[in-house]
Amino acid sequence: MLKTPVIIVNYKTYSASIGKRALELTKTIERKGKKNWAVCPQASDIRMLSENTDVPLLAQHIDAVDPGSNTGHILLETVKRAGAQGTLINHSERRLKLSAIEKIVRRCHEKDLETIICANNPEVAASAAALDPGFVAYEPPELIGGDISVSSAKPDVVEEAVEKVKNVNPEVKVLCGAGVKNGEDVKAALELGTEGVLLASGLVKSEKKEEVIHDLESEL
Ligand code: G3P
Repeated sequence: MLKTPVIIVNYKTYSASIGKRALELTKTIERKGKKNWAVCPQASDIRMLSENTDVPLLAQHIDAVDPGSNTGHILLETVKRAGAQGTLINHSERRLKLSAIEKIVRRCHEKDLETIICANNPEVAASAAALDPGFVAYEPPELIGGDISVSSAKPDVVEEAVEKVKNVNPEVKVLCGAGVKNGEDVKAALELGTEGVLLASGLVKSEKKEEVIHDLESEL
């Protein structure tokens, strides 16, 4: 469902990307971005963004629950009705049990939502691919939020993740993320066989967002 190559911006819980600031940032991406972008806002911001922008929206997480008595959980149906086209699953900052990942992917398939399973190493990436998601995103946790891009720090591991995923399921697209900040990082990621990147701090925390957006897609 998501077009590739894609740049996905995870808004996490940064002050600079919640509420009105989430809307401002998403409108800036919509105005300045010429390529395929998607963003992952806080669940409670999804509806506001979907009513005011056309940028594809993904939830940061949903829980492995059905409609019913599940106080405090994030329900697939709610984020879908709010305007999400899919969801991240098993992000390093929101790890899940295998049984939960499997159920979430299955429910997303039933409800026609895009699935991006995050994986901390190539072995987990391969296991994730067996669940038949749309995407697997390889993100080494130690590089998340840092200045060094996964595509320059661990090019061999990115390639290994791509190879392992494709061996299990050639239909699954691979992304990588952690420390991605500029067009060179995106270009390097694509040259390693990925079909896009997942990033957060490089854009969300920047004071020069328009320039960063332009730079990130400059090599696509
Ligand atoms: O989901 C994207 C993410 O974990 C990478 O974060 O700040 O290193 O771009 P960052």
